[in-house]
Amino acid sequence: MAKGLPLLEDLGDVAGKRVLVRTDFNVPLETADDGTRTITDDFRIRAALPTITWLTERGATVVTASHLGRPKGKSDERYSMDPVRARLAELAPGVELLENLRFDPGEEANDPAFVAELVEGVDAYVDDAFGAAHRAHASIVGPPRTLPSAAGRLLQREVEVLGGLRAKPRRPFVAVLGGAKVSDKLGVIAALSQLVDAFVIGGGMCFTFLAAKGNPVGDSLCERDQIDSCAELLRGKVPIHLPEDIVGVDAAGNYATWGTRLPDGAKGFDIGPGSAAAFADVIADAGTVFWNGPMGMFEDDRFAAGTRTVAQAVADTKAFTVVGGGDSAAALAQFRLDDDVDHVSTGGGASLELLELGDLPGLEALRGAPNAPEEG
Ligand code: 3PG
Ligand code: MG
Repeated sequence: MAKGLPLLEDLGDVAGKRVLVRTDFNVPLETADDGTRTITDDFRIRAALPTITWLTERGATVVTASHLGRPKGKSDERYSMDPVRARLAELAPGVELLENLRFDPGEEANDPAFVAELVEGVDAYVDDAFGAAHRAHASIVGPPRTLPSAAGRLLQREVEVLGGLRAKPRRPFVAVLGGAKVSDKLGVIAALSQLVDAFVIGGGMCFTFLAAKGNPVGDSLCERDQIDSCAELLRGKVPIHLPEDIVGVDAAGNYATWGTRLPDGAKGFDIGPGSAAAFADVIADAGTVFWNGPMGMFEDDRFAAGTRTVAQAVADTKAFTVVGGGDSAAALAQFRLDDDVDHVSTGGGASLELLELGDLPGLEALRGAPNAPEEG
């Protein structure tokens, strides 16, 4: 008999119990010259509050645990959880937070000895770390082997929404992809070709596609070794909308706008106004939109217009809209449009992988928990 995903209700009575909650508090931080770190977006901390509150209101003692950055198995001040702990203390007073899980090499290695350390003295486990559910790490796949376990509210909602996109999307289904690295996303694009009706591609990754069409891209970001793969995707059955104009800096370092053939020394940093308008039209006519990755370097005002126009289009369309990934979520927040989309996912890689494969190591582990409900 197949097992379903255990939810908070499947934990039984949690009063007086010590519950380990795996969260994804891997938040963006800004480091000042004196080393002081400030959280620039606390979305992932706030997103864990419904689960934490559900547990504490029922009398559980909550211990949260997360990774932060990639400290590579060594204790490192620069990656300590201190700034997160301070923010958590404001949002959920009295809730404990362990030190960065990735300070221990056992976390990423999924070492049983580290799992044993984590579950010691703990009565139940809750996974609410959707953003890390694609990692088969100790704190994610280990505890459900022995402890009564559950998906937290955030994880539950992410699975409902992203799983729903796979099951029965309103059509046309448009995937809007951006961000720097095309190599990270080629697998996803290939897999999504089975699911979506059109792609819209901007951001740094568009230059490898433009190069695959034979366009000179100057000194823009371009992954030469991925050109053949991009060319193959362009020959596929799903239309791929690429920019028709580009904004950036020329060889002399001046702000400039071009068509899609960039001169020598040119560096493209954003899609141009024509592209942004064309992309907005595709988004307006969609039934479902999944957006992952900014259209350009939106942190720089000169190169924010493309991402802003696309974000506005995603906010305005009547389509069901899902935004995944830290950068796109940060862009939405910067433009104050985060309330105008149907779902902002806390996961980047995880949301893409769930769309691509329909399952994640973290979900599989929960379905194997001793208290997982029978299904089907
Ligand atoms: C993320 O921010 O993508 C998640 O927290 C996972 O982090 P990772 O990519 O370093 O595993
Ligand atoms: Mg990541």
